[in-house]
Amino acid sequence: MKTDNFTFIDLFCGIGGFHQAMSSLGGQCVFACDIDEQCRQTYYDNYGIAPYGDITKIPAQNIPAHDVLCAGFPCQSFSKAGKRLGFNDATKGTLFFDIMRIVNYHKPKYLLLENVRNLASHDNGNTWQVIYTQLSEAGYNLLEKPVIFSPHYIGIPQHRERVFIMCIRKDVGSVKPFVFNEDKVNSCNIDSVLLDDSKILNIKKYKLNKDEIDLIDIWNEFIKNITQPLPSFPIWSDRLCEPDTKEDTSDYPSWKVNFINKNNNLYLDNKKFIDEWLKKAKNTKKFNGAKAKLEWQAGKTPSPDLWDTIMHFRPSGLRVKTGTYFPALVAITQTSIIGKRKRYLTPRECARLQSFPDDFKINTNDIQAYKQFGNAVNVELVRLFANHMFS
Ligand SMILES: C[S@@+](CC[C@H](N)C(=O)[O-])C[C@H]1O[C@@H](n2cnc3c(N)ncnc32)[C@H](O)[C@@H]1O
Repeated sequence: MKTDNFTFIDLFCGIGGFHQAMSSLGGQCVFACDIDEQCRQTYYDNYGIAPYGDITKIPAQNIPAHDVLCAGFPCQSFSKAGKRLGFNDATKGTLFFDIMRIVNYHKPKYLLLENVRNLASHDNGNTWQVIYTQLSEAGYNLLEKPVIFSPHYIGIPQHRERVFIMCIRKDVGSVKPFVFNEDKVNSCNIDSVLLDDSKILNIKKYKLNKDEIDLIDIWNEFIKNITQPLPSFPIWSDRLCEPDTKEDTSDYPSWKVNFINKNNNLYLDNKKFIDEWLKKAKNTKKFNGAKAKLEWQAGKTPSPDLWDTIMHFRPSGLRVKTGTYFPALVAITQTSIIGKRKRYLTPRECARLQSFPDDFKINTNDIQAYKQFGNAVNVELVRLFANHMFS
């Protein structure tokens, strides 16, 4: 397709990851919808288009004709009844059914769909089989397996594996296999998205406070002084003790017993240091609950230092990742901590991780902004797959 003049619709539009990519390729948006009012406002502020709301309430005939249908739809299980009744009934009541309703009515030339990685294996492969069969029976060519891809493969420092489904109407053409050599994964550098601290408005809001710094410092002392390499199991400070032979563990799941044993052994191997360290740690203000646990997921390194990593406070503990790329942005507020900057990632940096341009108007409420970028599709990846499909 000539990519300088085509129309597209943006279903489950969020803040318009698809819109950004498609309009940069010459597309004109003729319809958008999202059930979330805050997303609709951000969409309007950026593109001057007021998206419609709940897709289930929109008759297909009310949507204008279009060349390309884009949708990053929520992943839902299809009914078991569908397996007996046939594929056509399988998706009833799900949002995929609403996509198919619009596809079957308008038969656009191209469809570009995005979803979480789990879609490929969800419900033992049944979910993908239903999707594949429905799209194929609706008259579309598509690859037998969805493509799984992440921005960090092409040098954008976010690990975010997602499924992309490219479909071309059978009379228009077929989808070329998408070949990507994993050895060619580009190296990432988080500096490519980080803002200079002096340019961040209200920087104090994003800086770690003294208690957070003290907490990270105490864990830093721990990882620097225990026997290396650092353990890949979670470190539970309340289990850094002699094994408790009287504890009844018969009701515990086996993974929990395993982690308790490993923590006990780690303690026995480092008893002298840990005894002293625990005294200090217990006097550290934030050292309690989940913050008294550490999940080292940054691999082997000769001289570990938390201030060189990317961290997250999670319900399961302080999770530590390498400093090369960020873990996937998520729609809940678990914003990454950039160790070397001693601060949280800002909404503008989240926009950059999702390849939104720097003139994108971000929701002024940070909680909304983090959520919206956590839900969005990476713009550069949409461009990559749209170009692949159109060529
Ligand atoms: C994964 S997000 C898609 C984000 C989008 N691709 C972007 O770049 O921002 C899924 C979106 O579906 C929307 N949604 C969920 N149920 C919906 C419904 N019944 N009708 C319309 N939108 C819905 C959510 O509000 C959410 O914004």
